[in-house]
Amino acid sequence: MERLIIKGGNRLSGEITLQGAKNSALPILAAALLGKKTVLHNCPNLSDVSAACNILETLGCTVMRQGTTLFIDAGNAKYNDPPEHLMREMRSSILFLGAMLAGFGKARVSFPGGCELGARPVDMHIEGLRKLGALIEEDHGFLSCRVEKPLCGCEITLPFPSVGATENIMIAATAAKGCTVIRNAAREPEIADLAEFLNGCGAYICLNSDEIIIEGARPLHSCEHTVIPDRIEAATFLCAAAATGGDITLKSARKNDVVSMIPVLEEMGCIINCGESELSLKAPKRLLPAKIIKTMPYPGFPTDAQAVFMAALCTAQGSSMMVENIFEARYKHVGELMRMGAKIHISDRVAVIDGIDRLHSASVQCTDLRGGAALVVAALAAEGESVITSLRHIDRGYDLFEQKLRLLGADIKREGAKTDGKKI
Ligand code: EPZ
Repeated sequence: MERLIIKGGNRLSGEITLQGAKNSALPILAAALLGKKTVLHNCPNLSDVSAACNILETLGCTVMRQGTTLFIDAGNAKYNDPPEHLMREMRSSILFLGAMLAGFGKARVSFPGGCELGARPVDMHIEGLRKLGALIEEDHGFLSCRVEKPLCGCEITLPFPSVGATENIMIAATAAKGCTVIRNAAREPEIADLAEFLNGCGAYICLNSDEIIIEGARPLHSCEHTVIPDRIEAATFLCAAAATGGDITLKSARKNDVVSMIPVLEEMGCIINCGESELSLKAPKRLLPAKIIKTMPYPGFPTDAQAVFMAALCTAQGSSMMVENIFEARYKHVGELMRMGAKIHISDRVAVIDGIDRLHSASVQCTDLRGGAALVVAALAAEGESVITSLRHIDRGYDLFEQKLRLLGADIKREGAKTDGKKI
């Protein structure tokens, strides 16, 4: 079994370059089914990305990787049912529903998998696609979808700005006749990146402050695109540096993507400097607490950064409070942090973190992707040697994680045999 061995206490310093955003790459890969040839630069080498590539291959596309560039040829794409095990590998497999409806006029897909953060229904996806004219039935864990007449543009108001539902509707609406307007749409940077990719393929998508407009049924063509930097990887490294009293620079970071996190890091006593395309953090000897962090849709504080900030706040000089507003069960890492001595009290969606002088080492297990990253942050700051297992969660979202941490001075190594799936 693979494990990370981390000797805590080293102060992180130096600079690294951020990977491409996982949560941009995945919807773009689903949408690549609709273009002819896609050249996708800055695409991280992650197990979730491999799963998306494997789904594209089952749909007749060819996919090749050279470094961080993927070459996708959808010229011979043909209908197939994506295998259930691939659909279950990640949540964003559901985006193939919109892409297949747009490309083939039908799809039969299993309900998606992904991190267990609560119920995670797909009702908004289904409702939105139905409004565009898709006929969708649920049968025994599968969604069977078809169109009897061409998809048709319409107005869709989402009850909540769901990232995935916005993306699924955007992708499908590129094939719908006329104009689609998505109100209360998600506005995460990854949505803008997907729109830029689709527009590069010949679509017309306009992002206004409160709605997204798609003029559909335009012919799509080949496109070359560069994935935006990963703001959650940025949050992870910033928290690792903050927790170890470090001093780091993130190359290719974009200030607007992390704008909600900067005031929190400053409240924690860190000095932040934003350049044109880099961001640096200098941490104090001991962090100060953050009064209250509430996760919200973008431009609010991202739920994906909640766990890594919590790990850093475990050793702050006082108590911090967090409110998780996006997912109903996103505190699974708390029990593992407590094994390392953290003092955290949970009541429903609220977590109170009472800072202690120092965490201690322990054997801990990743519970989900960002929860796993939080354990790494905690172990880097802890006294002694920690062992972290269930690394398949971390491998879904972080490319060259240990290598980058080692570059910054961390004492971290991976041991044991890999038991998880192959990477493309
Ligand atoms: C995306 O998930 C991200 N995943 C998540 O990243 C991220 O945590 C999340 O957005 C929120 O920012 C990808 O982009 C691949 P949602 P998604 O639809 O699209 C509820 C990570 O660590 N909801 O915005 O699944 C849902 O249950 C992760 O990288 C419905 O009720 O998130 C949740 O409570 C994991 N019905 C809330 O909305 C629906 O039909 C937000 O979910 C859809 C969502």
